[in-house]
Amino acid sequence: MGFGSVEIITIPVPAPQGDEVLIRVAHYAINPTDWKQVDTSATGPGTVVGIDVAGTVVALGPDATRFKLGDVVAGLSPGNKFKDNGGASEYALLEEEIAFALPAGLGTAEAATWGIGAGTAAQVVFQSLGNAFPVPGTPAAPNGKWFFVSGGSTAVGLFVVQLAKRVGYSVIASASPANFDLVKEYGADAVVDYHDAAGAIAEVERVTGGVAQGAELAGGSSWDISAKVVPEGSLAAIVLGDPTGHAIRSILGYVLKRTKETYSPKDHEYIARFYALVPELISTGEIKSGQVTERVGIDAVPAGLAENKAGVSGTKIVVRIAQ
Ligand SMILES: NC(=O)c1ccc[n+]([C@@H]2O[C@H](COP(=O)([O-])OP(=O)(O)OC[C@H]3O[C@@H](n4cnc5c(N)ncnc54)[C@H](OP(=O)(O)O)[C@@H]3O)[C@@H](O)[C@H]2O)c1
Repeated sequence: MGFGSVEIITIPVPAPQGDEVLIRVAHYAINPTDWKQVDTSATGPGTVVGIDVAGTVVALGPDATRFKLGDVVAGLSPGNKFKDNGGASEYALLEEEIAFALPAGLGTAEAATWGIGAGTAAQVVFQSLGNAFPVPGTPAAPNGKWFFVSGGSTAVGLFVVQLAKRVGYSVIASASPANFDLVKEYGADAVVDYHDAAGAIAEVERVTGGVAQGAELAGGSSWDISAKVVPEGSLAAIVLGDPTGHAIRSILGYVLKRTKETYSPKDHEYIARFYALVPELISTGEIKSGQVTERVGIDAVPAGLAENKAGVSGTKIVVRIAQ
């Protein structure tokens, strides 16, 4: 299945169950998994695309207690698997524990970038690599160690850079030279060019004297660097292809209850704990949203998916759904 088969269709508005809330979607943010699911026909015709959203709560499930009607919230909507719900939609469901209310000053376009990107980053830094959650409002305590982010300018990478800094690491990342300043703006102490693997490895070793932990977020040739500079068992990966077999895999897909066959209560609990911290981490300025490129109207979704597939650099495409 290709992008030609992504169509705008009409379905009934889904009803929230359990602790779900229904939102009127203001912005839907595109992730690579959205077009990958379309391309592989993973879920079949009629599946609603999209996971990351922000918008206004318009209905509450019977067990929802954290949000009220009219709250503006963001998070992960169960999508890419179901015919009755998905994020690239006028209305979408959120599980309230895997969502957050927008703090003052945060717009829905920026808020929509958090879902998968920030959740995956939290899974990498806290759940997979065992770092403690930060206490919002307290200063970061340097731990004297280095963290390597392979793919520092990816959507996930800009969150990993910030979270690793926040828990006390010095951070060195890889990116294209055009994005060196961007990755430093998000907190990296140093950035290397992944296009020259040997040069990047030498530079990481020269600057750090050896890294303690790392994250592989890009895949492909980037493994040539991360597998060399990060010690065995201390590299968390979100992509396939580990040439060593030593990386720890982090997969965010297990946190939503609707994904019944793969749902992991432990993963859910971890990410729920992280999302509970998010409003304060944002309002104190400790962690900021990714960069956004806005497209307008639900009709822009197919082209946005194609644009993401063709390759984005240092930004996330968000589609404004509510006019
Ligand atoms: N397992 C999971 O649960 C999970 C969750 C989220 C994402 N993912 C996967 O993780 C990957 C990243 O997702 P994303 O949304 O963060 O990506 P993205 O923002 O769409 O990725 C684009 C970025 O990739 C960078 N890049 C490309 N090749 C690279 C290389 N060899 N080394 C370092 N950086 C490179 C580019 O950097 P420059 O422009 O600077 O060159 C560009 O900024 C995707 O494959 C996605 O499917 C998995």
